[in-house]
Amino acid sequence: EKDGHDWFMRKEIFEQPRAVADSLLGRRTAEGLLQLDEVRLSDDELRDIDKIIIIACGTSFYAGMVAKYAIEHWCRIPVEVELASEFRYRDPILTRETLVVAISQSGETADTLQAIRHARVQKSKVLAICNTNGSTIPRESDAVIYTHAGPEIGVASTKGFLTQLVACYLLALYLAQVKGTRYGDEINEWMDHLEAMPAHIEKVLESAEEIYELARSHKETKSVLFLGRHAGYPVALEGALKLKELAYIHAEGFAAGELKHGPIALIAEGLPVLCVVPPRGRDQLHEKMISGIQEVRARGAHTICLAEEGDEKILPYADKLITLPKVPVLLQPLVAAVPLQLFACELATAMGNDVDQPRNLAKSVTVE
Ligand code: F6R
Repeated sequence: EKDGHDWFMRKEIFEQPRAVADSLLGRRTAEGLLQLDEVRLSDDELRDIDKIIIIACGTSFYAGMVAKYAIEHWCRIPVEVELASEFRYRDPILTRETLVVAISQSGETADTLQAIRHARVQKSKVLAICNTNGSTIPRESDAVIYTHAGPEIGVASTKGFLTQLVACYLLALYLAQVKGTRYGDEINEWMDHLEAMPAHIEKVLESAEEIYELARSHKETKSVLFLGRHAGYPVALEGALKLKELAYIHAEGFAAGELKHGPIALIAEGLPVLCVVPPRGRDQLHEKMISGIQEVRARGAHTICLAEEGDEKILPYADKLITLPKVPVLLQPLVAAVPLQLFACELATAMGNDVDQPRNLAKSVTVE
């Protein structure tokens, strides 16, 4: 049942190329248009959307953060991302033109369910991104995009997360197509990029042994920091959450630009800092990230850098380098999250923890 793996989680990590491919299947028509069967909202209804609010919890919330970058960039619709447990208590502004996107692997998370009920009472449209067919959240939504990860058994979400990211990109590209904010050619190019991802993820998985060794060498570590920028910021948060959940050690993710506003005071000699380095591009992201890494390293941090292949600028500042395939920054979470999953899984195993059933946690959280 675990396909020869020690944990469901490890099996599910290695299933990710297949899960991502399945989530992309059948989304393009012969005419090269994007189609999402389960979106039961008319094009007119979608064109009227003037604001999107994404609600989710935990790892699904981090997928939502990535979705914000993609939707705002491709569709020019303002997006808010909100923790489901906070949403209805702040009296959010919801109208008929608001699209609420609920992201939930299980489809049963009580916080998220209560949030969408609140949104529907206010007459907003609700679209669910969900992995579990027929679960409560999609049943109570106006539309649903199913992720095709297959059942996720390990309590810590892995293939659930990657397929949520895929669904978010598909939704963003679909909205861009309907709203006409991107040309068909460009949408098709992004689809080509997405369809190349399973092979890229496979490539990352080939370096598992190297990441395991790194993880085992951190058995005595009491605290790990994660840094990222842009779409790498939610990945940093996700890497930290995985480590807290599974290894029970203090881990925190920061936006690299925030370091100087406080967190840099945490840096002490030998502190491991995992850095998700953005791809080199026309923007300043890469340079800014490197200067952040330089700052922490100058203060004694042990830097573990995830950077794209061929990135030579990072070499002088990386105590340990993990290479990622070359992909656009918006899609980088699909490859960058994987080494962090492997790291947490292996470190927790080395510490003797139950990776599939971490203490105090349940797979689906049906209480608020
Ligand atoms: C983390 C994890 C949790 C879930 C969260 C939401 O590994 O699994 O943080 O992501 O409880 O669950 P769903 O997506 O089922 O609503």
